[in-house]
Amino acid sequence: MIALGCDHAGVNLKKAIMQYLEEKKIAYLDLGTDGEPCDYPDIAKQVSEKIVSGEAEKGILTCGTGVGMSIAANKIKGIRASVCNDCFSTRYTRKHNDANILCMGERVIGVGLALELVEIFLETEFEGGRHQRRVDKITSLEN
Ligand code: RB5
Repeated sequence: MIALGCDHAGVNLKKAIMQYLEEKKIAYLDLGTDGEPCDYPDIAKQVSEKIVSGEAEKGILTCGTGVGMSIAANKIKGIRASVCNDCFSTRYTRKHNDANILCMGERVIGVGLALELVEIFLETEFEGGRHQRRVDKITSLEN
């Protein structure tokens, strides 16, 4: 299960992601907004809580830049949210950081690239090993 959320500046990109997930028969939860103006921290919190509770395995957040969503989501214990605008960063934030939320900016990247990043984010496994130790150190910073 993938938790999705956006603010008003990321709604078109989120709708494209929803269509992509439907085509791929990947289940998702849409936590808003449908386009009404809203504050991105409220949406980041809702998506993050679905991941922390185990209701969703990963999340995708979109706003104008992806940055506000990532700053907000990373305040929640257990969340590793990455803003990615390229394939390499997206692949390695899964392999090395075990990122559980992908953040993207609708005002930054096009839909074609964004959907490729979604595919990479959902298909790439965490490598573990020495990277697990580093992720554990990130977790220890939360306490
Ligand atoms: C909304 O105007 C914009 O600030 C927001 O979508 C996001 O880019 C914040 O980081």
